[in-house]
Amino acid sequence: MNLLENKTALITGAARGIGRAIALKFASEGCNIAFTDLAYNDLVEQTAADIEAYGVRVQFYAGNAADYESAHEIVKQVKQDFGNIDILVNNAGITKDGLLLRMNEQQWDAVINVNLKSAFNFIHACTPVMMSQRAGSIISLASVVGVNGNAGQANYAASKAGIIGLTKSVAKELGSRGIRANAIAPGFILTDMTSALSEEQRKQWEQMIPLRRGGTPEEVAKVALFLASDLSSYVSGQVIHCCGGMSC
Ligand code: NAI
Repeated sequence: MNLLENKTALITGAARGIGRAIALKFASEGCNIAFTDLAYNDLVEQTAADIEAYGVRVQFYAGNAADYESAHEIVKQVKQDFGNIDILVNNAGITKDGLLLRMNEQQWDAVINVNLKSAFNFIHACTPVMMSQRAGSIISLASVVGVNGNAGQANYAASKAGIIGLTKSVAKELGSRGIRANAIAPGFILTDMTSALSEEQRKQWEQMIPLRRGGTPEEVAKVALFLASDLSSYVSGQVIHCCGGMSC
């Protein structure tokens, strides 16, 4: 299958983890890949090489996704380099956990800026391109905690709930221009982001998951492929949970 042949996807924060898995899954379906991360490093080099092995075009752009000007500059550059932007994946994200009473302003601002403002930045910059193409699929990484909340993650949960509101609004505003917007709400996925948890915390999470295990980045990437491709041509404004049944 070549579900994304001749398409171009722009994926933020894709040097590792879920973003990298999405980039590789899209590339395996013939998609050209533009991806961002904070800075060029060995992970970026490896990811770019792994994408290239699928015989598609790949280009890396360094930048802080939370920075409005930088995001717009990157999108301008991607448009120049690739000609079109068919798929945008807002994936860059961080955690700075803590109970609300102990959470400081810096923890709050950093998580809201990196997780939520970044998605606004890239959607805002990509929208004129997608409107002129009269087509586009915007996929943003939310989280089950954006739907259910989570003690110790007020900043993160708020940012991911914001992603859901943003996604639904964009779907309503831009549907008439042929642009779809959807969110993925992963549960507990085994990446560097979650590897900081203790063995005990990990076991606690797994007990809450009907499938009794954490998910893999590839399992999230399969949902992203569905949303990026014509398999989901009549799906917009939705939040698809990818959580082993944890949130249902
Ligand atoms: P990760 O920490 O493994 O990878 C995140 C990537 O984003 C890294 O390469 C990092 O350098 C990059 N990044 C961070 N800040 C950035 C910035 N300001 N600008 C550009 N790039 C930046 O995280 P993971 O687990 O792959 O998560 C990816 C997305 O999925 C995030 O939005 C996260 O919130 C979401 N998610 C992850 C879950 C999990 O269990 N791992 C669960 C639910 C949602």
